[in-house]
Amino acid sequence: MEFMLDTANLEEIKKYEKIIPLAGVTSNPSIIKKEGKIDFFNHMKKIREVIGPEKSLHVQVVATDFAGMMADAQTILEKIDTNVFIKIPVNEEGLKAIKALKEKNIRVTATAIYTKFQAYLAIAAGADYIAPYFNRMENLNIDPREAIKEMTNQISLTNSKTKILAASFKNVGQVTAAFENGAQSATMGTDIIQQALAMPSIGKAVADFTSDWESIYDEGTKIA
Ligand code: E4P
Repeated sequence: MEFMLDTANLEEIKKYEKIIPLAGVTSNPSIIKKEGKIDFFNHMKKIREVIGPEKSLHVQVVATDFAGMMADAQTILEKIDTNVFIKIPVNEEGLKAIKALKEKNIRVTATAIYTKFQAYLAIAAGADYIAPYFNRMENLNIDPREAIKEMTNQISLTNSKTKILAASFKNVGQVTAAFENGAQSATMGTDIIQQALAMPSIGKAVADFTSDWESIYDEGTKIA
């Protein structure tokens, strides 16, 4: 089970890589926009420094045509590092680029997946990860639970090495549903983790433990 952060915010990444068992960081141009007009490659290199070489870094191309995507991928690998997963949307130009990059053994994350058909094409093209957009699928009345379950089945039936990196989450229940339907990975904003760990019930349980402890021992008595 892999938890990734869908953010380019360095402070959030620094904070949450210490809190969660972080497997990687993902971004796209809309996520980059939230950081303002940053020095893109320098910023990505800083993210790599924070997460280290073992965790995965997924960086999206900006070009929308095959040749441009291939050039973007090359530049990303040269200017960040060769282990980066190149994120490519699954449309005609993107699928062509995914095939060509896999022929060169470059790591690829197939993104902007709304349908099983897109996913199956990306799996057959050898993408390392496929990123179904959970919340956006729900908004279109496409059932992401059933879709992820079928993607999982097809990966298993075809003995594919592709992993499902579910994305686009607005709440904790969506993330757990993605894992429960077979996704190996999920990428999410830090708001989801805050939601999950700042439940009032957890706070109350901790306050009750403290108060029960202090009712037995003098206030201020600690274990260590
Ligand atoms: C990640 O690969 C996706 O680009 C991202 O999770 C989309 O999320 P959104 O639907 O919140 O924009």
